Amino acid sequence: MLVIFGITGDLTARLLFPALYNLVHDKFVPDQIAVAGFALGDITEQQLRDELAQSLRRQFGQQADNHLIERLASRVHFVASDFESAAGWQQLHEVLAQIDRDHKTGGNYLFYLATAPEFFLPVVQRLAREGLFQTGKGQWRRVIIEKPFGHDLESAHELSRELLKVARQDQIYLIDHYLGKETVQNIMVFRFANGIFEPIWNRRYVDHVQITVAESIGVEHRGRYYDHTGALRDMIPNHLAQLLALTAMEPPSSFSAMALQNEQVKVLESVPPLDPEECEWCAVRGQYANGKIAGQAVTGYREEKYVDPQSKTETYVALKFMVDTWRWAGVPFYLRTGKRMSKRYTEIAIRFRNPPLTLFRRSGATLPQPNHLVIAVQPQEHILLEFEGKVPGPVLETRKVNMTFDYRDYFGVANRTGYETLLYDAMIGDASLFKRADMIEAGWAMVQPILDAWAENRGGELNLYPAGSEGPEAAENLLHHDHRSWRPL
Ligand SMILES: NC(=O)c1ccc[n+]([C@@H]2O[C@H](COP(=O)([O-])OP(=O)(O)OC[C@H]3O[C@@H](n4cnc5c(N)ncnc54)[C@H](OP(=O)(O)O)[C@@H]3O)[C@@H](O)[C@H]2O)c1
Repeated sequence: MLVIFGITGDLTARLLFPALYNLVHDKFVPDQIAVAGFALGDITEQQLRDELAQSLRRQFGQQADNHLIERLASRVHFVASDFESAAGWQQLHEVLAQIDRDHKTGGNYLFYLATAPEFFLPVVQRLAREGLFQTGKGQWRRVIIEKPFGHDLESAHELSRELLKVARQDQIYLIDHYLGKETVQNIMVFRFANGIFEPIWNRRYVDHVQITVAESIGVEHRGRYYDHTGALRDMIPNHLAQLLALTAMEPPSSFSAMALQNEQVKVLESVPPLDPEECEWCAVRGQYANGKIAGQAVTGYREEKYVDPQSKTETYVALKFMVDTWRWAGVPFYLRTGKRMSKRYTEIAIRFRNPPLTLFRRSGATLPQPNHLVIAVQPQEHILLEFEGKVPGPVLETRKVNMTFDYRDYFGVANRTGYETLLYDAMIGDASLFKRADMIEAGWAMVQPILDAWAENRGGELNLYPAGSEGPEAAENLLHHDHRSWRPL
């Protein structure tokens, strides 16, 4: 049984419930699955069922299986209560007991905390006090916790310590929905199921790595949350650190959760902390001003709803990290992420070293472009290799050409949210695509010196950039300083 805390929220309607629908539709999860939900919501159970069903119909359009939607919605049970209310928890016990009886769930519960982060610890503590983590023979009880996990290194550490006082490590599943994306999972397959890439995946052949997560949307309705968070906290310790870890990790000893997580933690712990001076130029922050996206005028960040008109919160960040391992010593990893950029685009680009000799220089040909291997995560999901080819004709001229593997060509386009695999894995007890607290802490440790510098008004200044651009000029300078440049979006 799935028990969602915050069932009336955006995450449930837009991502969790559609993921559950897909899992039942594809027969990964039995049709009898029942869902219990707990949220403040001033609505009845029937209204909640109708809203969730409507949201599924909207998202799946003509492909929607209406019978399945009706069946799924009819299995939603709702406790409308504050998380602190004893009566609410009493009602939850009754609902769980009833579902156990009616649906023969065997007492196996997957709790999902689709709530604001301030409720993560109190709800988990309450679950423990209510005896809901206790299992009988052959039973399981697990809890998925959303991001953000803490708001800095100390709070993440504290949260992890407190959680472990009331639940076992193997009951806690920390989610990073990037790991639900097929292309992200494919990084491991690409690297470790093929013989040809791993030999060149190191400092001898790689010049540097660029990881870009660009969004064209602004803060939308999240202004209140975002203005206290900013791009650095919101994106780097979790999503970008995750992409860096997958790119730079050593081959694990097996594909068990423990072995995979161990290797990822090792990479993040090998990132040396920036010293205060480095924070001045290795960490660039920006904030979007008004501009145009796809020809439409959009307002600047400070005019967004719930945002302080004097806000100094960054909506863009570009960083340079090193990874001090034998494999990566001397190879910079440049990370950038921003809102209201010219397009929505996520990629990891491995830039290879130039050939040792530029043989074609004397022939008068244009200088060859460096080779890139690009893993595009969204919106396109593909892997492409950029290399030089000869332009046909009597003159020796070279030009960049691409060899591309596109997911759509081989596996079709699936209407997936990315949460399917993660929900399924949590149900079967496979934590390999979830994070461990030490990994999240290692992500926070990477950014903590920058947070400290910015909190003391040190570090580079906040640079405004027009909405719809590729970010602030200062981010270009970060790479120009190293005689490199960002790949155009
Ligand atoms: N939305 C996304 O795209 C997304 C993506 C990734 C991660 N996340 C994470 O997922 C979590 C949930 O995000 P969300 O966007 O779904 O938030 P949301 O739309 O604000 O939903 C919050 C839910 O918590 C309930 N709630 C709030 N206070 C409560 C209380 N005191 N007692 C009982 N229920 C209470 C709300 O009920 P009412 O609606 O009745 O107030 C609602 O069901 C957050 O941690 C977020 O960081 C969200």
